[in-house]
Amino acid sequence: MIAGNWKMFDGPDPIALRDALDGLDHVVAPPYVHLRACVQAGLTTYAQNVHWESEGAFTGEISAPMLLALGVEGAIVGHSERRQYFGETDTTVARRAEAALAAGLAVIACVGESWEERESNDTETVLRIQVEAIGDACGSHGRLVLAYEPVWAIGTGKTATPEMAEEAHAFIKSLLDAPVLYGGSVKPDNAQELLSRPSVDGALVGGASLDIDSFVALCRAGS
Ligand code: 13P
Repeated sequence: MIAGNWKMFDGPDPIALRDALDGLDHVVAPPYVHLRACVQAGLTTYAQNVHWESEGAFTGEISAPMLLALGVEGAIVGHSERRQYFGETDTTVARRAEAALAAGLAVIACVGESWEERESNDTETVLRIQVEAIGDACGSHGRLVLAYEPVWAIGTGKTATPEMAEEAHAFIKSLLDAPVLYGGSVKPDNAQELLSRPSVDGALVGGASLDIDSFVALCRAGS
């Protein structure tokens, strides 16, 4: 799976992107305001977050039934930017993932360590806590995919080496039986090497998913 997380960017024109993809497997996760246009263009569309309740007084949130009604197929949960800037915790990530799966969405649940945690040899401890929270709530589920996104590699141009990614992915898979995407400065010129590792099942792409040519090149590498 190659998934493009557009974050808080408008992203490419959905119809132009669909035409350029020409049937290649892909997922796009645009801002909420572009979900409908992406669905209508025929793109495989995920949201960047989802709440655990189906409706209620939760300003700024959106529910799984609302997304499904729009034709959205899945949601990202637990992105490190949500954890860092918006108070997302292992508990709320697990609740979001569990409810989304129960409602019928696919889920990409993100985990990953900071540079300080890696430097102090805490990578496995951090990953264990994050993955077990998701696993305890969801088990291994046919629509659940994890994404290993080392925080220090996101938007920095620093990529985990294929060996580092493989080691982390294998560890994550030992905790929970699920496909694991790699995320963090994935670009067309480093994708092939990362994707060739046995435990790397795809990529969650930020910056390089905003450009049609580079996203198409990544989807081609993935296929
Ligand atoms: P970049 O590819 O821009 O580093 O972002 C990765 C990411 O956070 C995808 O969710």
